[in-house]
Amino acid sequence: MTARKIIIDTDPGQDDAVAILLALASPEDMTVLGITAVAGNVPLALTQKNARIVCELAGKPEIKVFAGCDRPLQRPLVTAEHVHGKTGLDGPTLPDPKMPLQDQHAVDFIIETIMQEEAGTVTLCVLGPLTNIATAFQKEPKIVARVQEIILMGGAYFEVGNITPTAEFNIYVDPKAADIVFKSGIKLTVMPLDVTHKVLVTKERNDAFRNLHSPVGTAVAEMTDFFERFDKEKYGSNGAPLHDPCVTAYLIRPELFSGRHINVEIETTSELTLGMSVADWWRVSDRPANAMFMGDVNADGFFALLTERLGRL
Ligand code: RIB
Ligand code: CA
Repeated sequence: MTARKIIIDTDPGQDDAVAILLALASPEDMTVLGITAVAGNVPLALTQKNARIVCELAGKPEIKVFAGCDRPLQRPLVTAEHVHGKTGLDGPTLPDPKMPLQDQHAVDFIIETIMQEEAGTVTLCVLGPLTNIATAFQKEPKIVARVQEIILMGGAYFEVGNITPTAEFNIYVDPKAADIVFKSGIKLTVMPLDVTHKVLVTKERNDAFRNLHSPVGTAVAEMTDFFERFDKEKYGSNGAPLHDPCVTAYLIRPELFSGRHINVEIETTSELTLGMSVADWWRVSDRPANAMFMGDVNADGFFALLTERLGRL
């Protein structure tokens, strides 16, 4: 099978960092055409810096990193330093990046790449708020039909909200952008909290990262040591949920995941439920299915894959 050509759109974020490391460790499965940073977990100045820190941690300073949108389409930016720390990558001490940030705006890179590559051959792996993606669709509608697939971490159904009682963070930060993407007609594969809350970095799993005895393994273990506080306090969970690596793991071993092809729509007006992903899991409406909404994962298989691939870096 030839490697899938991907653009990673991201707001690092410790879990974004692990997703990026997994992608960069898997050249036989995916070719990273570029990494586009968006404001989300922390402001854009930090997410673009963190994306470059992670590329250098992976030993891949040649990867092109672009800065994108610094705020959502219609709302003020909401960030998550309470989860990710003030740098967005709290936990390990990592050096400032030496690799350059690309001059081109991330949205223009997304448009140019999708227009230049053969139609239907570029997959968007979206790990943060969907602002860059929606902005690219608005700026150049012709790219919508040319996107192969969007695989995104976002939303929730049974798990409901992690930033409000009803909304997951990536969708909540920019509900209008999410609405544009979910109504785009593009093949969508969604990794909601329903599945990401099943891939918890238990002590044993984190020890496996640490026991790689590599800068990458140690950094990932230190990231999850920091990142897990929020979920342990909120959910009493037995470790950090590795949300975003579900996206890149899906590209390598899709059979690890299972879900339903259903209708998912985004609440964009109610202040009470803003950003809720209204997933018709039980198919009670006649709204057309628009997303493969994942509900389960083979967690041991996921961590075996992740640990093996991180061990390559
Ligand atoms: O709700 C979890 C999502 O929000 C993850 O992508 C995490 O990195 C944050 O962006
Ligand atoms: Ca993220």
